[in-house]
Amino acid sequence: PPPVPQRIEEKRRAALLGGGQARIDAQHKRGKLTARERILLLLDPDSFDEYDMFVEHRCTDFGMDSSKNKYPGDSVVTGRGRINGRLAYVFSQDFTVFGGSLSGAHAQKICKIMDQAAMVGAPVIGLNDSGGARIQEGVESLAGYADIFLRNVLCSGVVPQISLIMGPCAGGAVYSPALTDFTFMVKDTSYLFITGPDVVKSVTNEDVTQEQLGGAKTHTAVSGVAHRAFENDIDALLNLREFFNYLPLSNRDPAPVCECHDPSDRPVPELDTIVPSESAKAYDMLDIIHSIVDEREFFEIMPSYARNIVVGFARMNGRTVGIVGNQPKVASGTAQEYGGIIRHGAKLLFAFAEATVPKITVITRKAYGGAYDVMSSKHLRGDVNYAWPTAEVAVMGAKGAVQIIFRGKEANAEEEYVDKFANPFPAAVRGFVDDIIQPSTTRTRICHDLDVLASKSQSSPWKKHANIPL
Ligand code: COA
Repeated sequence: PPPVPQRIEEKRRAALLGGGQARIDAQHKRGKLTARERILLLLDPDSFDEYDMFVEHRCTDFGMDSSKNKYPGDSVVTGRGRINGRLAYVFSQDFTVFGGSLSGAHAQKICKIMDQAAMVGAPVIGLNDSGGARIQEGVESLAGYADIFLRNVLCSGVVPQISLIMGPCAGGAVYSPALTDFTFMVKDTSYLFITGPDVVKSVTNEDVTQEQLGGAKTHTAVSGVAHRAFENDIDALLNLREFFNYLPLSNRDPAPVCECHDPSDRPVPELDTIVPSESAKAYDMLDIIHSIVDEREFFEIMPSYARNIVVGFARMNGRTVGIVGNQPKVASGTAQEYGGIIRHGAKLLFAFAEATVPKITVITRKAYGGAYDVMSSKHLRGDVNYAWPTAEVAVMGAKGAVQIIFRGKEANAEEEYVDKFANPFPAAVRGFVDDIIQPSTTRTRICHDLDVLASKSQSSPWKKHANIPL
């Protein structure tokens, strides 16, 4: 055999070429980047330290032990690097090697970086592009998945875990992305499903394409499995870099504070007239969010799903904030009850009540019934609660309320109800809102509150675990 240094070099070269030039070309032809190209785009230049480049699969069945079926590094590239200077662990499945399928060795490589990420306190980013369990390896491959799932669960709440689906992700493979904190997809080239179109056809006789069954549109607009979709690999990876900047590295690390060039006391005069005087007329909550946050930058999560609520990340005076806003532009109806709004509403309430981060609430207009309570009210440990002069805090709208209490028999009852309840005073006189503020001062007030609340410390009763309604 050739001398060791030469063999090392040859193996390295082979690893860098994955499944070979022909398969790399095929990958490009599909509009996809290779596993290594993706890592280079995701991480800061020259920051990638690769692990396990020499690892090979150990399967001997079906001729897999022949040298032509061995690829140094097998079907995944793993390691660590930096995103805007901050540490991240990453694995990138290599579709050019056995379709990126997961062998026992592939799983071991992923588990190694997950263990280290949890130990040092750094996020794990998975770039998924895989034909699923390595068929030749059988249960060894399934065991590998479960080893990863266990780590996904143990890492949950310890380090951020992000999945970017950049190709196929089928069968048992879907559970790892589903367990991570955020799942993003690439439009047209990625799909996620438990069973493919052929199985669906044989079981229920439905005709469905891969894209319809598990493409980005389905999972971002219908199932809610994915949090956002991007145009192509490059767009997705650049957005992932931007998204990463909002996150803390671990549960022991504060969220990063960026330098802010947008004055924290910037008045926002357009907010004074943004809420229409007609109570039933809609306005766009996104306009309010954009005008309040630093530089109008809002990273929306699930923009196409449950569009009657807007959620995402932004910064206020450089600090990461999560934003939850009701969207009056989108109406609700029977579908909400049939879809289990009671359970889902309870989940939202649970999350607000349980959260110990600084919580600031602004009632812009209607805070009716349960929604008043749910949306981070004072009673759920809201730290600072504001009402705009347009706020209406009541059990329900005037028409419905008067119909119920007077059966429509009392003249002027609706007017009286509006006078009494369709304003911020009932909440303000009870101290349930801390102040009624001029909308144009909202940014200034929130930035100031966040400064004060930075040292907030709050705890909840000891428990083994909570039981959030699912
Ligand atoms: N195990 C082993 N090898 C696999 C594999 C798997 N699960 N999935 C794909 N491959 C290999 C193929 O044999 C092929 O090898 P080759 O380049 O030597 O010919 C290569 O990966 C590419 O696969 P191919 O089928 O040519 O690509 P495609 O883009 O046409 O289809 C898939 C991609 C993923 C749809 C298809 O490969 C597939 O259905 N794979 C099996 C999916 C599955 O059911 N997995 C188990 C779920 S847990």
